[in-house]
Amino acid sequence: MKSINIVNGPQNVSVIIQGCMRMPALSKEDAAKVIRTAYDCGINFYDHATCYGENGAAETRFAEAFSLTGIKREDICLQSKCGLCFDRNEFDWSKENILSSVDDSLRRLNTDYLDTLLLHRPDVLYDPEEVAEAFDILEKEGKVRFFGVSNLVPMQIELLKKYVKQDLVINQVQLSLEQSQLIDQALYMNNKQTEFSINRDGHALDYCRLNDITIQAWSPLQVGMFGGTFIDNPAYPELNKFLEEIGGREGVSKTAVALAWILRHPAKMQAIIGTMNPEHIKDACDASEVRLSHHDWYALYLAAGKYLP
Ligand SMILES: NC(=O)c1ccc[n+]([C@@H]2O[C@H](COP(=O)([O-])OP(=O)(O)OC[C@H]3O[C@@H](n4cnc5c(N)ncnc54)[C@H](OP(=O)(O)O)[C@@H]3O)[C@@H](O)[C@H]2O)c1
Repeated sequence: MKSINIVNGPQNVSVIIQGCMRMPALSKEDAAKVIRTAYDCGINFYDHATCYGENGAAETRFAEAFSLTGIKREDICLQSKCGLCFDRNEFDWSKENILSSVDDSLRRLNTDYLDTLLLHRPDVLYDPEEVAEAFDILEKEGKVRFFGVSNLVPMQIELLKKYVKQDLVINQVQLSLEQSQLIDQALYMNNKQTEFSINRDGHALDYCRLNDITIQAWSPLQVGMFGGTFIDNPAYPELNKFLEEIGGREGVSKTAVALAWILRHPAKMQAIIGTMNPEHIKDACDASEVRLSHHDWYALYLAAGKYLP
């Protein structure tokens, strides 16, 4: 498994992250298999959020399962996210909510620190001074080592940076062959004949690269938000044909090729997989060893339904 150093953040982290959003559906034993399989494949980074499962069920299940794996806490990075409150139908970046969310995550995860904490989705009503106060307290108390954001456009990050003294080292955003808007708008720049040219994210990709913010790509295999995967999906025949062809040549699965497409981008991103199937985890991790050619990358992009201007 290849690793990267997150600038001003955790070092030697795997390019593939195991996402834990779907873990509440698993038994403790099956969750332990997921954690252990990922770890044995070289993954040392696990992604959580306070809203994954009712009352943080993903974090609770993870901790119960982690104790069965024999893995040492200090050998992995635990990331959680706060501010997205499904239970209350709102986003909340108040100091009180950030502090209590981290305390809840620490208790559920059975740990005394998070390696990274991300603000999950923007709370329009937030006061940046409150976020700054919360981050200072969390850092001072040793509860959070590094900070970042998720689903934020550059100007929102700029506003936060004006107040928060810690570096914001990660932006976790949606990116896949199917959901490639981060990339599309640069290719179709200023083209009024296609909606691919619409800039929906304020050039988040270039901004993050310019500011040494590591992009973590969530749902790398999904259609839309939760539309199921495009792997083996009959609605994507051309894409599956190319994934199969390249996978056959490289000796890896279609899943690995789809992830290798993200990892091939020079921004040195991490890809967060969500599978809870140990065989799929092994397949996915092969992506780390595949370097797609320039031609492969574009061929896959086109096969996913895009065209070049
Ligand atoms: N920041 C945010 O706003 C945000 C939003 C959503 C997710 N996330 C993070 O991103 C992580 C990944 O999201 P995701 O679960 O949507 O990612 P994903 O890896 O794109 O999708 C995983 C889903 O695809 C299924 N799948 C079917 N065939 C598969 C195959 N051949 N290989 C792999 N998976 C296959 C999996 O089922 P099986 O389990 O049966 O393999 C699972 O249900 C989450 O766990 C969470 O940590 C962040």
